[in-house]
Formats: sequence, C-alpha cells, structure tokens
Amino acid sequence: MLTAVRDRDAYANLALPSILRRHGLRDRDAALATELGYGTLRAQGLLDAVIDACTDRALSKIEHPLLDALRLGAYQILRTRVPDHAAVDTCVELVRGDHGSRSAGFVNAVLRRIGEHDEAGWLDRLAPDPAEDPVGDAALRHAHPRWIAQAFADALGDTGDELQAALAADDTRPQVHLLARPGEITADELALATGGEEAPYSPYGVHLEAGGGDVGELEPVTEGLAVVQDEGSQLVAAALAKAELLGEDTGRWLDLCAGPGGKAVLLGGLVAAEGGSLDAVESSEHRAELVRRATADLPVTVTVADGRDSGLPEGGFDRVLVDAPCTGLGALRRRPEARWRRRPEDTAELTRLQRELLVAGLRLVRPGGVVAYVTCSPHLAETVGVVSRIVGRPGRPGPAGEVEQLDARTALPDDVPGLGDGPTVQLWPHRHGTDAMFLALIRKPLD
Ligand SMILES: C[S@@+](CC[C@H](N)C(=O)[O-])C[C@H]1O[C@@H](n2cnc3c(N)ncnc32)[C@H](O)[C@@H]1O
Repeated sequence: MLTAVRDRDAYANLALPSILRRHGLRDRDAALATELGYGTLRAQGLLDAVIDACTDRALSKIEHPLLDALRLGAYQILRTRVPDHAAVDTCVELVRGDHGSRSAGFVNAVLRRIGEHDEAGWLDRLAPDPAEDPVGDAALRHAHPRWIAQAFADALGDTGDELQAALAADDTRPQVHLLARPGEITADELALATGGEEAPYSPYGVHLEAGGGDVGELEPVTEGLAVVQDEGSQLVAAALAKAELLGEDTGRWLDLCAGPGGKAVLLGGLVAAEGGSLDAVESSEHRAELVRRATADLPVTVTVADGRDSGLPEGGFDRVLVDAPCTGLGALRRRPEARWRRRPEDTAELTRLQRELLVAGLRLVRPGGVVAYVTCSPHLAETVGVVSRIVGRPGRPGPAGEVEQLDARTALPDDVPGLGDGPTVQLWPHRHGTDAMFLALIRKPLD
C-alpha cells in the first residue's frame, strides 16, 4: 500500500481491498495490515522527523523502499503494541530479501535507535517549545503538516488546547457513518439492523464502530436502503432542505457539484417525498455515472456539464446545493495519505472555481430561493473567504447582486452544540464527531 501511494499516487482506501485479496489476508490479519498501512501513511511527518533524528543520511537520499520500511517499522515501534523486536525483525527481513544485507543493516541500525524512546520521549526531544511555537508543536504531536495545523488554528481562532483537540481527533480512525435513506428505512431501524447506534444529530444517521468489517456487505447497504455518508454531510444537505424560502415553491432542487452522489441521494429522497425533483450536475463523466447509479430509483436527472455553464434555466430552482470541489482538509481522518499529498498552493486554484460555482448557483436559484455553499474543508480561504467575496456587504453587493445571508445554525437540529456566532456553520471532528464540513446559506431576495 505504501508503494502504491508513493509510486502511483494511489488512494490508500481504493488500493487496499485488492492488496488484501492478492495476499489472501482476512479478518484479523486484514485488520492488522489495514492498521499498519493507514497508520503509517497518516503519521508520515512525525515518523520522518524521528527517522531523520536517527540517521546521518538526509531523508531525500534514502532509497524509497528503504524509507517505506523505516516508516512502517517506526510506526509500529511508536504507535502500536507490536513488540519492538518483532517490528524491527520483520522490517529488516523485508529489506534483506529485496535489497540485500547492507540495506538491511542500515534499516536495523535506524530502527534500533528509534526504539530507544517511545513516542512521548521523541516528542519531548523534537517538538518545538509550545510557548514559542504552539502550532508547530501541535502539528508534530498529531502528525499534521504545519500549514494544515495553521489552517485549523486560523479557523478555530485558537492555538492552544482546542487546536490540540482538533488535530488529535483528526488523527484518530473515525467511525463509519451510514445514511438511512429517507423513505426507505429509518435511522432506528438501520441501527437495529446493523448493530450500530443512532447518530447524535442527524435524523438519518447511524454510527458503526471503527474496524467492524466490510460495511459494503451489510444487508441494508447491499439492498440499497443505506449508504456510507459522514454525519456532517447529512447535516449540511438536510439544512438546505430545511432553509426558509420566500415565495412559492416549485419543487425543483439542484445539486451543482453532485459526484459521486452522496448528498444527491439524501436531497433526492427528501424532494421526492414532497413530489418534486432534483437536477444533478457533475463535470466528470465517470462521477456523473456514479450519481446516476446512486439515484437510479429517485426523481433525479443527471447532467454532465461544467456547473459554471450548465445550460440549466436561470432562476429555475428553489434550492441549490453548491458542494464545491475543495482541498478536503475537513475529511483528512478518512483519507490517510491526503494530508501529506495536499499542498498549500492547492487552495488558491480552488477558491477561484469555488467563487465561480457559487455565483453560478446564485444565478440558477429563483428569487426567494436558497443556495447552500458547502465545503469539506475548514480552511478560511475556501469557506468564509469565498462567501464574503460573493455576498458583499449591505449597500456594496458582491458579484451576484443583492443577496441575504441566512443564519445557517437555525437550519440545523436544535441540539447541535458549539456552532459559534453564525451566520455560517463550521462542524468539527472534536466537537461534533463529524468531518469538518462548512455551510453557508444564501437567499436571493424576491423581485
Ligand atoms: C466535493 S465533491 C461533491 C460531493 C457530492 N456532493 C457528494 O455529496 O457526494 C465536488 C464535485 O464537484 C465536481 N466538479 C469539479 N469541478 C466542477 C465544475 N466546474 N462543475 C461541476 N462539478 C464540478 C467534482 O468532480 C466533484 O465530483
């Protein structure tokens, strides 16, 4: 898995099933392999800092397969209960088989030095003084790139305990969340059928224990009654459905960035219950096909188009979801390798597209209708930065003309805590147990 991610830019969660199958790993072996692979990818920055402290060779000069073996060994020594000698022996033998005795000797020496301290001991030695550099300290402790730790700190307005809590929660393997499809099954029925628990906030959500086997094989999932979907995604999509409209409903809703179709399934189910319909736009043909399959039994029409120029009728929709492409910094806990693959410069390119899609959404919504702008990122440039440029200020409207920002907190269930002062909503793993989803609700005034 480490090789596939490094060499082919593979996504670990997509590469994993075929790797497990190829090596005939099942049950506990599969669980251990998953834990070692995901854990090593997630902790890469911390592991590299420790490896770097244990060798005179620059990391960039270590052959890639040896670095993979060192990371895998370091992860086991620092973050698992695998005995050190077992971790060292297996990694050394792995390297000896493919790369000979000299390389094996090098890996052996470095891993033995790593084993001289536990994780806390290495952090004492390597982390910056939190009084001088709290963000650097939190980043290393919870194995996040510094720029991402800084983005979290900026969004939280905190560099102390709350930043530590946010990064710690983001560094923990999350529970699987299911969406009970409206009209198909209720959350309590789904919880009973899967042995899960009803979600604390989403009326459609069920939480399953992490590492509890293949979710795709659960009966309600194979029967199409439920799909995997983070509770935060459920909350923001349901908020659009609940937001207060002005004027007369037409029963036409739009999902402008719909692939692979998670929120379209929820919105499609909700609009169907009202006798309405959902249009779903997606620029990638492959992802549009995933939306078609996910919504096949719903009144959903899928169009492959650029959402900025979709050809759909302007002013034609009551409710529009702009679930914009983003850095995904809010869902890092579900994608082990993503935090080390993303670059700070990715944001600049995305924010332009996000603004243009939001402007398009506001063109497509009817007067009195509502647009939900959503990202699975808490990065301020992608969230309030985008919204403030478009919404403008009273008397100084943005590029979409006069619009009204609604208090998005009022469209969430009453019992969701920690939502701040509004009008936008930022969910967090450490506060809500959800991905860090962002939501703004914007209403077009009546003519
Ligand atoms: C955050 S994802 C949407 C997730 C989806 N709403 C769900 O809940 O499953 C963003 C999607 O926007 C698509 N996209 C990117 N640029 C686009 C554009 N210009 N117009 C429409 N869709 C676009 C991407 O291919 C991606 O599928």
